Amino acid sequence: MSQPLTRIETRAGRRLAPEEIYSLVAARESRLSRLLITYITAGLIFMLLPGTFLGVWNLLAISSRQAADSVSPAWIQAHGHAQIFGWIGTFILGIGFYSIPKLRRLDPFALGAGWTAWGLWTTGVALRWFTGVWGWQWRIALPVSAALELAAFLIFLRCVSGHRPQDSGKPAVEPWVWVVIAASAGLLLTLVVNLGAASFLAFRGSSPDLPSAFDQRFLVLQTWGFLVPFVWGFSAKWLSVFLGLRPVRGGVLLCALALNSAGVLAALAGWMVAAVSLLLAGMLAAVFALGIVEKPRQPAKVRGVSSLFPVFIRVAYVWGVVAAALGIWAALAPDPSGIWGASRHALTVGFLALMVFGIGQRVLPAFSGMHVLFSTKLMALALVLLAAGCLLRVSSEILAYQGIAQAAWRWLPVSALTEMTAVTLFAGNVLVSFHRRRPSLS
Ligand code: HEM
Repeated sequence: MSQPLTRIETRAGRRLAPEEIYSLVAARESRLSRLLITYITAGLIFMLLPGTFLGVWNLLAISSRQAADSVSPAWIQAHGHAQIFGWIGTFILGIGFYSIPKLRRLDPFALGAGWTAWGLWTTGVALRWFTGVWGWQWRIALPVSAALELAAFLIFLRCVSGHRPQDSGKPAVEPWVWVVIAASAGLLLTLVVNLGAASFLAFRGSSPDLPSAFDQRFLVLQTWGFLVPFVWGFSAKWLSVFLGLRPVRGGVLLCALALNSAGVLAALAGWMVAAVSLLLAGMLAAVFALGIVEKPRQPAKVRGVSSLFPVFIRVAYVWGVVAAALGIWAALAPDPSGIWGASRHALTVGFLALMVFGIGQRVLPAFSGMHVLFSTKLMALALVLLAAGCLLRVSSEILAYQGIAQAAWRWLPVSALTEMTAVTLFAGNVLVSFHRRRPSLS
């Protein structure tokens, strides 16, 4: 069991001297940082190769043939799974493990559990990608990959469930914690549905790709039901300090969460117009709850990061609203494939990836052993390129796929290469920061 730092004793019952305690804590901090760096590095590898490289490949094929359905659905789903679970999911688990055992002080269980979960999770996600792309032994590999991912997350939940909030005079559970709990429930549901769908395909399906109608609904659960609440939770925890905003309106944030959850449930039931309307209302409520577009009370804390950081966090939330608004258009349009694609991309790249670029480069170097970000200029360039690539992609996807402007098919590859350059710069900046020691800023 964990113990307060002032009461640590050896197994023989000897009370440790303060310097012994601090060297124990330093050793533990360094082991935690190593665990976090391993998670983040794996996430970056998934993002670059199975995720972005395959996404760019798919888009180049789609634009050269000028047909959205000219690429195998299994390849598109393999790309989406690598980005959502391989990249952002691995980041979330890594940050989660880094934070929990730290709160639980010196419990040795959590660290070993963190490594076991890493092995299961990365094997599951990699197996899923290979199965989607090559189809080798997919009837066995597909459910096995889903079971490995679920097992990894159950280990994570087992670690979290032992955590009790410290008595700090604050309310026992702050609103951002409820949002993160809801996001974790969304991830658990996503992984259970994933295992059910994979098992169903293994017994009754004729290929490893999910049927399109089911995939559309399942994507709402993965993105709005799992990733969006995680980003809101981290935003509520960090943004008021980082951007100098007013304190979070906790009640409004919980209303946003309720609207969002209702939207996800409506989408799962197939009521798409109601679903996207609720998701838009939830995103607008979250913007109000966080005070993102209100005048800051204090200057933003941009020391060690690009001065554009506060601007792009706001741009990300604008993309979140645009994604939901495009969803309403798509739900009402007669032939909406390009509008759905644009809405999904506005959310995954414009909102989620831009937030990960912003908050990730703000917190990860410090978490990983008090490093500092390698280059604030590279950070700025990555943010600008990602936002520009996203704007080009979202607009040209609507114009090209919906048959509005033929020239837009030629802009799509440009958008893909712009985004690929952005993610490569982001990955390079984070990795170099991890491996390059510099004195801490604080
Ligand atoms: C270089 C950046 C990217 C490129 C070129 C790209 C390309 C594509 C393409 C061509 C599709 C097929 C559907 C369509 O045409 O809209 C697609 C779907 C998808 N993408 Fe991306 N993408 C990129 C980044 C991302 C990111 C960062 C995420 C998530 C964080 C993501 C998640 C998805 C998902 C979930 C799908 C739908 C998969 C499915 O239908 O099951 N993409 N992407």
